[in-house]
Amino acid sequence: MIFGVILAGGIGSRMGNVEKPKQFLTIGDKPIIIHTIEKFYVNSRFEQLIVPCPNQWINHTKNLIKKYFKNTERIAVIQGGDTRNETIMNAIRHIETNYGLDDDTVIVTHDSVRPFLTHRIIEENIDYALKYGACDTVFPASDTIVESKDHDVISNIPDRSIMYQGQTPQSFKAKKLKEVYESLTEEEKKTLPDACKIFVLKGETVKLVQGEAFNIKITYPYDMRVAETLIKGE
Ligand code: CTP
Repeated sequence: MIFGVILAGGIGSRMGNVEKPKQFLTIGDKPIIIHTIEKFYVNSRFEQLIVPCPNQWINHTKNLIKKYFKNTERIAVIQGGDTRNETIMNAIRHIETNYGLDDDTVIVTHDSVRPFLTHRIIEENIDYALKYGACDTVFPASDTIVESKDHDVISNIPDRSIMYQGQTPQSFKAKKLKEVYESLTEEEKKTLPDACKIFVLKGETVKLVQGEAFNIKITYPYDMRVAETLIKGE
């Protein structure tokens, strides 16, 4: 079975002093999170869509889903976790409790604040996760990446032609991700914010899915202006 996990457990602190987490802000005529869920909702390969969000926003999210979607049973709103990975683990626990986990259970995890992903990206994520066990959506780095270990002088400039920017979705065989995550120490859990990085460190294959330049993550107030422009073009 294949599940879409639309991650909305964050509070959007870099967006500044707004009255609600950024995923609930409006672009075009709808909240960002609704634009994102819509992209998953139309794909019939998903058994269910899971939307983890902060506890105090669960009712609000459920109400939004009732307003914008017909088949609300296809979308489960659950509580998010303290970190992005803990949020993913809550989604896996929800699947385990309600459907059971087997070796071919796949989760396509996606930032709720990346509303511009495409059907092709979702399809490739599902196919690659089934075939290779894990995949990450990436886009070739356009700027040269400069590394500075002391935040003062350059320690390295990696070859740009082999650098990519990480986007989402990131997709996994859920049982494997759970096993790998549970094998980490508490310290490792804190220092590994990226689920794909956990796989890589454990020597597992993570296949690349080609992203899109417009698959942006809404992070800062400036991104809202870019998103407004992009939504008009959709
Ligand atoms: N996220 C999550 N659970 C967390 C933290 C983040 O599901 N405990 C989600 C966010 O809701 C977002 C995505 O992960 O959709 C990407 O994270 P980011 O852009 O960093 O979101 P926030 O943590 O909300 O933002 P900030 O870092 O500015 O507070």
